[in-house]
Amino acid sequence: MSEFAPVTAPARQRRQASIGQPITRRDGVAKVTGSATYAADHHPGGMLHAVMAVSTIANGRVTGLDIDAAKAHPGVVEVMTPANRPSLAKDPDDRDNPFMFRLDVLQNDRVRYVHQPIAVVIAETFEAATEGAALLAPKYEKEPPRVGLDAGEAFVPESVGPGAPSETVVGDIEAGLTAAQRQIEATYETPAQYHNPMEPHAIVARWEGQRLVVDTPSQAMTIARGRLAGLFGIDADDILIRSPFLGGGFGCKGAMMSPQVLGILAARLVDRPVKLVPTRPQMYGPLGHRAPTRQTLRLGMDAAGKLTALAHHTRTSSSVFDEFFEPASNISHTLYASPAISTTHDAVRVHTGTPMFMRAPGEASGSIALESAIDEAAHACGMDPLAFRLANHADLEPISGKPFSSKRLYACYAQAAERFGWAARSLEAGSMRDDDGLRVGWGVGTATFPVVMFEAEARATIRADGTGVVETGAQDMGQGAWTALAQIAADSLHLALDETVFRAGTSDLPDGGVAGGSGHTATVGNAIDAAGRDAIAQLIERAVADDQSPLYGAAAEQVVARWGRLQMIDDGARGERYADILRRAGLREIVGHGRGRADADVAERYAMHAHGAVFAEVKIDPDLGQIRVTRLVGAFAAGRVINPRMVESQFFGAMIWGLGFALHEKADVDTRTGRIMNADLAEYHVPVNADIRSLEAMIVEEDDPHVNVLGIKGVGEIGVTGTAGAIANAVWHATGKRIRRFPIGIADVLDDEASAP
Ligand code: MOS
Repeated sequence: MSEFAPVTAPARQRRQASIGQPITRRDGVAKVTGSATYAADHHPGGMLHAVMAVSTIANGRVTGLDIDAAKAHPGVVEVMTPANRPSLAKDPDDRDNPFMFRLDVLQNDRVRYVHQPIAVVIAETFEAATEGAALLAPKYEKEPPRVGLDAGEAFVPESVGPGAPSETVVGDIEAGLTAAQRQIEATYETPAQYHNPMEPHAIVARWEGQRLVVDTPSQAMTIARGRLAGLFGIDADDILIRSPFLGGGFGCKGAMMSPQVLGILAARLVDRPVKLVPTRPQMYGPLGHRAPTRQTLRLGMDAAGKLTALAHHTRTSSSVFDEFFEPASNISHTLYASPAISTTHDAVRVHTGTPMFMRAPGEASGSIALESAIDEAAHACGMDPLAFRLANHADLEPISGKPFSSKRLYACYAQAAERFGWAARSLEAGSMRDDDGLRVGWGVGTATFPVVMFEAEARATIRADGTGVVETGAQDMGQGAWTALAQIAADSLHLALDETVFRAGTSDLPDGGVAGGSGHTATVGNAIDAAGRDAIAQLIERAVADDQSPLYGAAAEQVVARWGRLQMIDDGARGERYADILRRAGLREIVGHGRGRADADVAERYAMHAHGAVFAEVKIDPDLGQIRVTRLVGAFAAGRVINPRMVESQFFGAMIWGLGFALHEKADVDTRTGRIMNADLAEYHVPVNADIRSLEAMIVEEDDPHVNVLGIKGVGEIGVTGTAGAIANAVWHATGKRIRRFPIGIADVLDDEASAP
């Protein structure tokens, strides 16, 4: 299924803007009834099942695989190893841009991390392939793995994140610290985290000669298609990717990953359609993660509590064979003004799968450290942490000196603080208890996320019957793109939602860009808007030149589209329906094209960010150490809101991630073996319903004239920032214990007398 919105009778059409309406997900029924087709739901005729065998060691070589045993198992068709893997046109260890990652696709016998694919068993059934993979019983030549943030020599990476400088300094940090009345220095540690989308990177691959058809989840189908074209030496136009629904992405479906490429290679090897679905444990290895960090913050404050220096250093790790460096320090560019700011990174290489983008990459890990440090600084100055923040914000972006595009941060603070009741907070830690004797703590964190736009295209068609079709290869990870983009599509053609067919989710549509960086709605939305306006402009041109039209002879700029009609701006009665114009012109349709992308000139002049504030209440059992987040209140200003229901849901989702960051998520890595000891959803903890007691996300209105034509910022990632720090600060306020290693656990907050034997 790749379209929604059947055309219905005019009586049902709503004559109002679709943008701004809190409509429910248009794909919601399909999803909850199981009719939405995810990648693994496809079963083309003759399809075989592939299962990856993955390494159990972190470093070394595969010296033996019992291929005969696997092949002898009933139902096993073939075993793919480096010896018989079909060749590739491009070395999978090459990469030529920051959005491309090196792959592990059986290029040799090297093992570089645990769960690296080392063979693929292809069989008539999933069960036979699974058993065949077990029968391979690999033998290894082991070498000691490098594990942890102190493994090997640290170095300064050339860049962090996708192409950001790893060091940025303004002013003189040491002078600022020397001049300070008070200083704090604190080191925070965040663990490796794994994306854990509900749907793994499943793929069903089918070769039709040199043509390739794949069903696989992708946040960026055009980039994925280019990647596959390069690897397989075929034309991008000969590749069709279908990704109408993604069961979550969070960054890990932003690039074509090794298991997906292995599925395609397997299909080529056996010359039949192949399905390959990584198991949940296999998701912890070749499919990306958020790298661990150790962040040191040094802050100086003058007598009035104004920052005199802000130094943020991050140590992180990447794999031994590829590059992605968590840009955690760069959060300190944006929020707090200081005459001296320095953000630096260094890194070690460890035997792990390559880290990559994960929801608010850099901002999330950086924010929990920065917001904790700001809280420590505020209390060191004897100031309320909200007052301290207000004293340290600036109208210009601290690092760039550029003006913010309509900065609404103060409104976020005011609205969320009032709703939360922050004014009643005691300054002193450990001073609040509830009626049951639980320790109560209140904390605040500031949220921010940059306005990111990629590039996208869209096509908008007005058909002979006056209805519309809008098409773009957009991707819905679950965030509601099918819905929000369809709302923009309808408005762009000045049609009701019911009169507008919206198609997305396949790579043969116009380039839908990247569902990432919280920039999808802004980028594709503006492409759609431009395409719709182009189609309308063509229609106006026809009408004013047609002597049968009531609009004949009018100046084009005096004519506007109004809900399926063109009419004079100043005389609504003078006009006619789209369908009439097309009918007389003998046209089946009029097609408009549009592009969306950042305006480089505006980006040069303004610092563009979404802002927010999050307040958290925790209750901690003094005897058991159990930490409950009993209230979370966030307020966010993120530009034009296309659909308040979807936007609130994005804030909720990200705030819940923030809670998980503070209290739950952590990959436990065995330092001796490099194995992740909790590589499954039973032991890798994420927040569940019972962890969320009360959650509120307020939308602060913001009309930003600069960011793009539609005024859209982004809502997907900002909620993680702010939230995690607010919770950590609330834990301090409840207990007086400043926990600097995340996630915060029971043992961290137990009263000393309670933990004594
Ligand atoms: Mo998101 S980490 O930009 O997919």
